[in-house]
Amino acid sequence: MNKDFSTGLLLSASLALSACGKAPEPATTSAVATETSAVATDPAAEAKAAKVPQIEAKNWPLQPSPIARQPAVEEKIKALLAQMSPEQKVGQLIQADIASVTPQQVREYYLGSVLNGGNSAPGRDNRVGPKAWLELADAFWQASTDTSDGRPYIPVMWGTDAVHGHSNVKGAIIFPHNIGLGAMREPKLLRKIGQVTAIEMQVTGLDWTFAPTIAVVRDDRWGRTYESYGEDPALVASYAPEILQGIQGEPGSADFLRGNHMLATVKHFLGDGGTIDGKDQGDNQHSEANLRDLHGLPYYSAIKAGARVVMASYNSWYGEKMHGFQPMLSDVLVGRMGFDGFVVGDWNGHGQVKGCTPTDCANALNAGLDMFMAPDSWQKLYDNTLAQVKDGRITQARLDEAVSRVLRIKAEMGLFEQVQPSKRPLAGKFDLLGSAEHRAVAREAARKSLVLLKNNQKLLPIKAGSKVLLAGDGADHIGKQSGGWTLSWQGAGNKNSDFPNGESIYAGLQGALAAGGGSVELSENGRFTSKPDLAVVVFGEEPYAEFVGDRAHLAFDDSRALQVLTELKAQGIPTVSVFLSGRPLWVNPELNQSDAFVAAF
Ligand code: GLC
Repeated sequence: MNKDFSTGLLLSASLALSACGKAPEPATTSAVATETSAVATDPAAEAKAAKVPQIEAKNWPLQPSPIARQPAVEEKIKALLAQMSPEQKVGQLIQADIASVTPQQVREYYLGSVLNGGNSAPGRDNRVGPKAWLELADAFWQASTDTSDGRPYIPVMWGTDAVHGHSNVKGAIIFPHNIGLGAMREPKLLRKIGQVTAIEMQVTGLDWTFAPTIAVVRDDRWGRTYESYGEDPALVASYAPEILQGIQGEPGSADFLRGNHMLATVKHFLGDGGTIDGKDQGDNQHSEANLRDLHGLPYYSAIKAGARVVMASYNSWYGEKMHGFQPMLSDVLVGRMGFDGFVVGDWNGHGQVKGCTPTDCANALNAGLDMFMAPDSWQKLYDNTLAQVKDGRITQARLDEAVSRVLRIKAEMGLFEQVQPSKRPLAGKFDLLGSAEHRAVAREAARKSLVLLKNNQKLLPIKAGSKVLLAGDGADHIGKQSGGWTLSWQGAGNKNSDFPNGESIYAGLQGALAAGGGSVELSENGRFTSKPDLAVVVFGEEPYAEFVGDRAHLAFDDSRALQVLTELKAQGIPTVSVFLSGRPLWVNPELNQSDAFVAAF
């Protein structure tokens, strides 16, 4: 009996029986005993080793790339590669954060890209006006295109998280987060939202957004639930092409990645929404089939619709971190899904790969990552990566392939022909930020994203002429309405004055009621001076982003609103709850104290 067979028998028997009682007495023959003792040294590892599935690329549907290579672009890439030094090639594969790099350093290290993370903004001021963004974009662009030392002309590009509008910039329009847009069940509106976002980004001189997230959330305890359009892969797959082509335009059209369009990123590849217990950056242990059919489905439709950048995910699959997982980044994404753009890492995500640190990670590049997002680690990473190119740990072929992928997209974006950011058609047209036309799109999205869960006695819509009491800590709080990724990473500490083109629920209700001869009294704690016809209580989650929003359970646990609702009900006042949250939560106590209840993501 070979070892495996007996081990298998023993393990399966013990697993079977241990599930329902005592594990079987192992066979007493010496052979099995020996083998058993050999296995007994580490049964957990044995079980784990036996359990880990493998990725078989042939199990993934084969999809051709929707975008044919352009001979002129390929010629240009070839010519550039021939001119570029190893230093210049490595520079194209490293993206630094604007809080940790100067335009001079971008020039010195030939960096191909910068980003502003959620908390980075010009002058380290998250509420600085749009003009400062445009000026800094010029500074990085000028530094990167100064070829007085004979270097090839390769402009830098700046990526940002415009994930619900150009939400880093004061005055830009803010859309509902993806979970609210998913609740609309209206993919067509996403195209408009993408177009508006791309326009407002170009007003400030940027040319690349790290959006859309096309995660399929499977556990709402995940802090990034609201960045997902929903838990249904088919819904997410129907949304991806719309938002993508809204931002990028249509592949093959004259304004693909140009004109009013720009570069998008689909993220995070792959399986970010399916980690155990919804733990952000955790381990996804779905089967390969689930990884393909649930998490992978939106990538097929996104790549078919022209996705040119994929962001690798922090999560692992059975312990393999995606940033270094060649079967997924290369065999599946490129080999089967037909992806022909470049893979950008997440914020020092490469540092989580086995054998890597944020400043040293040939493994990720060799697995298929093309550009490191190395916000503050860029300098040492540059030095180490250059050394690994020179000593062969990174082959010339892999280096040139990654550089080619980045240059190809820069060429498709027209970056080599573009003038400096502030001289581009939309640059500096600050009145476009939060313009009436853009706000109309946002209002339509906000309206359609609301989910009516209860409406006793048809309390809603509020009758014209009503006397309304407006209560709750979200009643007059645009920051709470907007959630994370708003002006700052966590979206915390935002005041209404930070949103010159925004409107709180209070301001909106005031306007709507006045028009019909009604009135609204604002009182956060629900105390009133004269008895209202009905009360609207606005409450919910505090803004959060990423792992900060991870929860152990789904019971909404801030009882302040319940207190207000209960007191109002005791006074015989009909109550409408407006619940601001980044995910569905268990709110039965509040539901039971409400005559009407709106989930307002
Ligand atoms: C973050 C997020 C990613 C974002 C990036 C840059 O950690 O995971 O979605 O695009 O860093 O801000």
